[in-house]
Amino acid sequence: MTLFPSHPQPPTLKTVVFCRNPFDRLARLLKGRCRGVAVVSDRNVMGLYGGGLASALRRAGLQPLLLTFEPGDAHKTRRTKELIEDAMVRGGAGRDWAVVALGGGVTGDLAGFVAGTYMRGVEWLYVPTSLLAMVDASIGGKTSVNATGGKNLVGLFHRPRAVLVCTDFLRTLPGAGWRDATAEIIKHAAACDRRYFELLEKVLPLGPGTGRDALRKVIRRSVEIKAAVVDRDERELGPRSILNFGHTVGHAVEAASGYRITHGRAVAIGMVAEARISARAGLLPAGDCRRIEELVRSAGFSLPRHGPPPRAIMRSMQADKKRTGGAVRFVLLRSIGKPAASGASFTRSVPPAIVMDVVRGLAGTGR
Ligand SMILES: NC(=O)c1ccc[n+]([C@@H]2O[C@H](COP(=O)([O-])OP(=O)(O)OC[C@H]3O[C@@H](n4cnc5c(N)ncnc54)[C@H](O)[C@@H]3O)[C@@H](O)[C@H]2O)c1
Ligand SMILES: [Zn+2]
Repeated sequence: MTLFPSHPQPPTLKTVVFCRNPFDRLARLLKGRCRGVAVVSDRNVMGLYGGGLASALRRAGLQPLLLTFEPGDAHKTRRTKELIEDAMVRGGAGRDWAVVALGGGVTGDLAGFVAGTYMRGVEWLYVPTSLLAMVDASIGGKTSVNATGGKNLVGLFHRPRAVLVCTDFLRTLPGAGWRDATAEIIKHAAACDRRYFELLEKVLPLGPGTGRDALRKVIRRSVEIKAAVVDRDERELGPRSILNFGHTVGHAVEAASGYRITHGRAVAIGMVAEARISARAGLLPAGDCRRIEELVRSAGFSLPRHGPPPRAIMRSMQADKKRTGGAVRFVLLRSIGKPAASGASFTRSVPPAIVMDVVRGLAGTGR
């Protein structure tokens, strides 16, 4: 099946549709273009929205095969992928079927990976229902599952043919989902767009009380930024590494805490650390560094009083897979919205003494 034969690999932004009725839109997109639809969703989201999607597909003459898995990143595994694939085989899914991911980032990563390998690859479409999936996970075509030794280690690049964004889903999103996604939103602004940063200074914290217009502006701008970056560099060889701002320290904090600190919170801490490293390296003005710290706090994050020990953070940073030539590398900022590139590279190494100093200072600044 080829859903859009004239666009073998459309620019990411063109595949993103903002709409109020994503299910009808999806049904219209698929009608007459595929023989069946496998809808993948976790138990929470399937319970809330699976019925509405199934009805819309049936109205369009498509028989959906509903495939539900247990919620949470712990279930983003090869085992779950296998269960979904086996159910697709039993349900008669063929090459002329489409996969639809309905849910958060876990669902997209899993369903996209299934779509990328099922019968050597079928098309997939994504209806993101969490804020993180809308602003981050649905853009860029990375799909994966976790392995015993680490997160997202097994997967492939397989872009969805369409991403249908509807902010109404966020009415049922649990509180933690808002805050964790805000970390990636701040990252987009701090690393790529000063004006966007100024908008965030006005509208954060994001939550159920955030006005629809402000929310739409934020999601749109984050989608535009990520889409522009990944279209320049899908495989993360150069410019895409900008999106790792806050993530070198963030991943280390997350791992050193035994994953008790969520990814979003770890990235928030990582952005504060990497802004301070940028300032200590003589790149980022002190005023910009303070504004980044303030924005992180206004999103609802605090630095941990009793976080993982600095030495453990340093150790997991050393083990980071992005290590090159023996040195840990960071995305540093020259100002809000401007990463400090050196030649063709957007990452830099920094004297370990500066990093250690900043990491030691993190625990003492909590509220
Ligand atoms: N592929 C990428 O580029 C990329 C980028 C960032 C993150 N990710 C991945 O995304 C995952 C995290 O995404 P996430 O935070 O969306 O996690 P998630 O998919 O587990 O969703 C979080 C929780 O919210 C629930 N939920 C989602 N939407 C809801 C809604 N509208 N109403 C009520 N409940 C809802 C889910 O059932 C789940 O319990 C991680 O596995 C991460 O690795 C991937
Ligand atoms: Zn992240």
